[in-house]
Amino acid sequence: MRKFVVAGNWKMNTTAKSGKKLVKEVLKKAKPGKVKVVFGAPATHLQQTQALLKGHKGFFAAAQNVHHEQSGAYTGEISVDMVKDIDVKYVIIGHSERRQYQKENNTVLLAKTKLSIDNKRKVIFCCGESLSIREKGTHFQYVVRQLTATIFKLSPKEFKQIVIAYEPIWAIGTGKTASPEQAQDMHFAIRAAVRKKMGDKLADNVSILYGGSVKPANALEIFKQPDVDGGLIGGASLKAEDFVAIIQAAKKQSKADRINVAHFTANL
Ligand code: 13P
Repeated sequence: MRKFVVAGNWKMNTTAKSGKKLVKEVLKKAKPGKVKVVFGAPATHLQQTQALLKGHKGFFAAAQNVHHEQSGAYTGEISVDMVKDIDVKYVIIGHSERRQYQKENNTVLLAKTKLSIDNKRKVIFCCGESLSIREKGTHFQYVVRQLTATIFKLSPKEFKQIVIAYEPIWAIGTGKTASPEQAQDMHFAIRAAVRKKMGDKLADNVSILYGGSVKPANALEIFKQPDVDGGLIGGASLKAEDFVAIIQAAKKQSKADRINVAHFTANL
């Protein structure tokens, strides 16, 4: 069955010093059990983060981005080889901030994803709609289209390396979380689309994380939803105490009996 994952995305925050303190505090206090914990550190202290996590089972570092070419004249970019070289297992791809500010389109995102998987990295692939799309009511189609144009083009073997993160843009950094029902409805739709494209086994096994203003106060309610398998956490991952509380909420829920509603309903 699929794994619970709690991933922090530090974005353009922390220094080597504050990042180190944060990781150490989380390592000291978190008892994640079977929940995987991921730290999306900035490139300048990714190696340090990886080194701090070495030997801590279930804790991983993630790059926030990689370039879609193997190497070359791309000033300021980091390659999958560089990430692999420092033994960082995860890469975050497709975050709405990169889609918006770096104009990353589906073609580029698919190339990045493929190159990462070819190089044995796991990909946290982000998707999610803007407020105007949500208000129009076309959010399910929009998100499924994002996936159809990208990770649904992978082979089933490649797809195994994917963790999906649903992050409604209107909930990122706004303090406005999707309600547990809104999250569940979208996660259900995503899993149903994966089932149609990739089959039962991959649909049942893919972890789908929710991201967007997850805090200690709302994490458990969101994680209780049957198709929510953890979170991608921005602001709250910068405070050790908050991040630990979210990890513990995931642990609590990971132990609860989870009825596979999506599978059940899909077979009715
Ligand atoms: P916040 O948790 O700060 O809303 O950010 C979510 C996010 O974008 C994680 O990638």
